Amino acid sequence: GVKIVTIGGGSSYTPELMEGFIRRYDELPIREIWLVDIEAGKEKLEIVGEMAQRMWDASPYDVKVRLTIDRREALKDADFVTTQFRVGQLNARVKDERIPLSYGMIGQETNGAGGIFKALRTIPVILSIVEDMKELCPDAWLVNFANPSGMVTDAIIRYGKWEKVIGLCNVPVMAMMEEPKLIGKTTDELVYSFAGINHFHWHRVQDLEGNDVTSQIIDKLYEEENGTPANIFDVAYFKEQLKQMNLIPCGYHRYYYRYDEMLNHMLEEYNDPNIGTRAQQVKQTEAELFELYKDPNLHDKPEQLTKRGGAYYSDAACETIASIYANKNTQIVVSTKNNGAVPDLAPDDVVEVSAYIGAAGARPIAFGSFEPAEKGWLQLMKSMELCVEKAAVTGDYGVLLQAFIINPLIPSGETAKRVLDELLLAHKEYLPQF
Ligand code: NAD
Ligand code: G6P
Ligand code: MN
Repeated sequence: GVKIVTIGGGSSYTPELMEGFIRRYDELPIREIWLVDIEAGKEKLEIVGEMAQRMWDASPYDVKVRLTIDRREALKDADFVTTQFRVGQLNARVKDERIPLSYGMIGQETNGAGGIFKALRTIPVILSIVEDMKELCPDAWLVNFANPSGMVTDAIIRYGKWEKVIGLCNVPVMAMMEEPKLIGKTTDELVYSFAGINHFHWHRVQDLEGNDVTSQIIDKLYEEENGTPANIFDVAYFKEQLKQMNLIPCGYHRYYYRYDEMLNHMLEEYNDPNIGTRAQQVKQTEAELFELYKDPNLHDKPEQLTKRGGAYYSDAACETIASIYANKNTQIVVSTKNNGAVPDLAPDDVVEVSAYIGAAGARPIAFGSFEPAEKGWLQLMKSMELCVEKAAVTGDYGVLLQAFIINPLIPSGETAKRVLDELLLAHKEYLPQF
């Protein structure tokens, strides 16, 4: 049987993962699942861990859920390691969002100054997990969900020298779930091509005869539910721009294409004591979820989980693992080494692309070059990410400042440096490299 280890097991998303594994048990015969957390997450781990065991007990399968804060004990002989941890918990995210907003800049979990600092906290931890894996489970696959998923996955390969990794995000899953309905089709009746980097990718769509239907979908995006995740304020894109691109941007492009509107919306929520930043709102949802998980009669993933931005993430995670295990060659959108699929970026850059997933991992599907507007954004954003990763590994202040100055959501100058310094201080305990 297969041994799965989930790091950050105390996450409220864990029941989502269990549901995905239960559904796929016939192709992925799991023996045991180890949920790993840290001292600070022990209470959550116990509550959600018992909920996870109840879900298995209510299924026809005999699977044991083991809970531990000893990561090394869990990793021994693992087959798949999934990562869904948040260094510094939600309180650190509150700082990532509030500090930039207090200076009038976008404060967001994976974008702008906040996203940069989430990477600085997460990359050292993921690299230490990789070192443990080299020793304790050298043949295992690492399936990363921890954000910023693209930078974290890139750092695993570039600095951790660990190639058996796949990075995931639920944004493409949601787009492929909702958009086909807009034009009266099912996902199976369309061919999706994604390319770019995590939270900064675009896609085009064809029907089974090879006709491009992107423009048809673009028209409908303005009329109905369009698959934007719950955490992103749904300002409409400029239609003229999308028509010109003939590509559909991901939900996160709004922060760049509609900067003013997104910033104003975030400032409004930030300044309203009854609303607050997204992290503060998520704290509420999380508290509700954990109250539900405590109910000994609950054995199913509750509806409330769809209020989280990462809803349906198990579809990507569990399908990826089943596809590797059973060599299914399923098409999934993943963060993986480019290898030429996106010629506008270097072959060894991690990109987020449609790929075939099988026993040998991800084989990215060639997308081709972008037009100048998209190409410029993409190269800038990837370069910014590379500066962040380097800063995360070396603790080099200069390269971190470069990342701030390049980042399109951070107006450069004295204020940028002040925000940087304040974030460094606020997150000190999670930034051993600085
Ligand atoms: P969370 O705040 O519930 O954190 C999950 C768990 O990680 C907590 O129980 C915490 O104690 C634990 N943790 C913290 N540091 C740890 C460490 N060093 N080792 C092991 N465990 C540790 O977070 P969440 O809201 O469930 O999100 C989890 C992660 O998944 C975040 O990084 C988030 O950004 C990411 N996420 C990714 C996507 C995606 O599309 N890729 C979607 C949603 C969430
Ligand atoms: C999804 C993204 C994740 C992100 C999450 C935030 O859209 O794909 O990468 O972290 O939403 O959701 P939350 O509910 O925590 O704000
Ligand atoms: Mn994501």
